[in-house]
Amino acid sequence: MKIVVLTGSPRRNGNSNQLADAFCAGAMDAGHKVFRYDAATLKINPCKACEWCREHGGRCISNDAMSDIYGHLLAADLLVLATPIYYFGMSAQLKAAVDRLHALSARIKGKQAILLATCGDTEDTVADALLAHFSAICTYCEWEQVGLMIARGVYEPDDIAGTDFISKARAMGRNLGKAETTKEK
Ligand SMILES: Cc1cc2nc3c(=O)[nH]c(=O)nc-3n(C[C@H](O)[C@H](O)[C@H](O)COP(=O)(O)O)c2cc1C
Repeated sequence: MKIVVLTGSPRRNGNSNQLADAFCAGAMDAGHKVFRYDAATLKINPCKACEWCREHGGRCISNDAMSDIYGHLLAADLLVLATPIYYFGMSAQLKAAVDRLHALSARIKGKQAILLATCGDTEDTVADALLAHFSAICTYCEWEQVGLMIARGVYEPDDIAGTDFISKARAMGRNLGKAETTKEK
């Protein structure tokens, strides 16, 4: 399986990046090809809403890190979004990359998708807005949700180290395509 992982935290070794690391390690152990991009460290312009892509075969007018990501995304079977929860949603850095999917439009239908998220609060409802958003994106893009993890109660950059979240993210990557998928809300 070809996998594209997009992460959204500016904290290089923070919680969501550690989840992404574990997921990628598990997936690579299982023989999958993983292409990972850290949106917070790449130059990714926000969508200009110019619709240039509509008249140019789905190419985007912005020439930045998304050019490389687009190629891998088109060929990918699975897209993984890994993000800290910021004000109940995904980070702005990741959202900029998600908005840029506008150029690909119908050409990225039919893929699988996974959301990995971290947040400081522990309330059951803390991820409701993000989960609704992710579900809406999946419905719109016709992606099948095959994994979900919300790691609550991790605030400081290293709070997630050594927790079950890490081992479960690794298992999620390793078990891709098998009947057992992880869906933890
Ligand atoms: C701008 C900002 C907004 C945040 N908003 C929320 C929030 O709405 N709910 C929450 O539980 N935690 C919130 N947090 C805490 C982060 O989600 C938490 O620290 C998370 O583990 C960060 O992940 P990272 O280490 O991958 O960056 C916020 C943190 C920042 C910096």
